[in-house]
Amino acid sequence: LGFFLKPGRSRLFEETFLDPGGFRLLDLVYGFDPDDPTGKKKYEPQGPIDTYCWNSRAAKDTRLRFDIYKNEMLSHGRKYGKEGPFTIVSLGSGPGRDINDIILQLSAEGYDVSAICVDRNAEAVKLGRLVADKKGLNGKITYVHGDAVNFKDRIEPKSPVKIIIKEGLVDYLSNEKAEILFNNAYEVLSDGGVSLASNMYRAGRIKPLMVLTGWDRKMKYRDGEELGSFYNNGSRFDGVNISTAGRTHFIAAGYKNGSKPIPSLV
Ligand SMILES: C[S@@+](CC[C@H](N)C(=O)[O-])C[C@H]1O[C@@H](n2cnc3c(N)ncnc32)[C@H](O)[C@@H]1O
Repeated sequence: LGFFLKPGRSRLFEETFLDPGGFRLLDLVYGFDPDDPTGKKKYEPQGPIDTYCWNSRAAKDTRLRFDIYKNEMLSHGRKYGKEGPFTIVSLGSGPGRDINDIILQLSAEGYDVSAICVDRNAEAVKLGRLVADKKGLNGKITYVHGDAVNFKDRIEPKSPVKIIIKEGLVDYLSNEKAEILFNNAYEVLSDGGVSLASNMYRAGRIKPLMVLTGWDRKMKYRDGEELGSFYNNGSRFDGVNISTAGRTHFIAAGYKNGSKPIPSLV
């Protein structure tokens, strides 16, 4: 095991299996190498465990989910951007690389958009700040280190919050915590804003590595309807839509106060 746990070789293994809820798998998904000073080089699998993770179905589905997710974020962003400056809040953001891309793209199109990323992992927050700096996004993205469930008092948005995303966060929360999260998101969102969430849904057999590392027990799998139910249990989102990304992921969108759903999600 020591061989695999060497720094650099082990990070995907640790965060994918030993301490799920990490973001390293997404370094691969988004093609970012945290050790490259330019922040541009594609991150490559660094050993047999990395390769296993990279080729796993979860990684493939995550790549698919990300493609869908990114397009949804962009179409929502263009809609809100036409109304004036707005803020995106990403909860359980990791280093926020998905957000970086969205902010860069929307800014290039002339929209006045900023983002706040909240994550409990100090390393993710540090890395996020570093990458944002390299990409010239300082001032546009703020990183907050802490719990994403009770995020309300920690953030100071400069413009109305129109999009809140919880990409890959709900999987790690109990039902009670998830309820609180969705209610808090409702309070923070401006009218007409959208609250997006994605979750994994385990279909098929559990792999031996998952059993050995207890990975499966640490995750909260929910199907689309269960994920969608958090929007309306105790809160009042209108027009909740669920879409499927790949075989194992769901994306749900809840709109605050009557905004019309984006057609592609219906
Ligand atoms: C699978 S990663 C997703 C990262 C990011 N949303 C993305 O798509 O690139 C899940 C992230 O949620 C964070 N996380 C899990 N539970 C959290 C909590 N209660 N508060 C804050 N962050 C949390 C983890 O630290 C991790 O960075």
